[in-house]
Amino acid sequence: MENAKVLVVMGSRSDLPVVQACLDQLKDLEIPYEARVLSAHRTPDAVLELSRNAKKNGIQVIIAAAGGAAHLAGVLASSTILPIIGIPMQTSALGGMDSLLSTVQMPAGVPVATVAIGKAGAKNAAILAGQMIALGDPALAERIRTFKADQAAKVLEGSRLEEEE
Ligand code: RP5
Repeated sequence: MENAKVLVVMGSRSDLPVVQACLDQLKDLEIPYEARVLSAHRTPDAVLELSRNAKKNGIQVIIAAAGGAAHLAGVLASSTILPIIGIPMQTSALGGMDSLLSTVQMPAGVPVATVAIGKAGAKNAAILAGQMIALGDPALAERIRTFKADQAAKVLEGSRLEEEE
């Protein structure tokens, strides 16, 4: 996408059904993004090329989704000072605990901001990226405030449970 501010990288096309929650949220907040499928293990050179060039291509935040031995966010973080948000994918073998631990347990000096496993994390990654960019973008800040207010209003609307007959 022209003028992308967020780069979303996923380790496999099989991650897309979950990552779609992130892409949808970015779209709702009108944050331009570019989405790529690249793997830390299968295409390491392409991952490094992407992160090394991201800043000069106008990217402000990178989101990385991967599952299993999830090294994608960490490898991206090794080669840029842009903030990296990691989304651990749910896995059939270990329920995503493997992805969570391998994304969150970064060595000191190379941070990855890790969100929850799966779709909730994917949605939150988009909002968190938006909140980072909103520090220098008042119009986006206003859209995020509206999103949060709408979310609160929906909870309040349904907060009174009807008594059972
Ligand atoms: C990771 O391995 C991907 O992020 C994906 O979550 C998992 C399985 O990938 P595939 O074998 O489906 O390509 O690298």
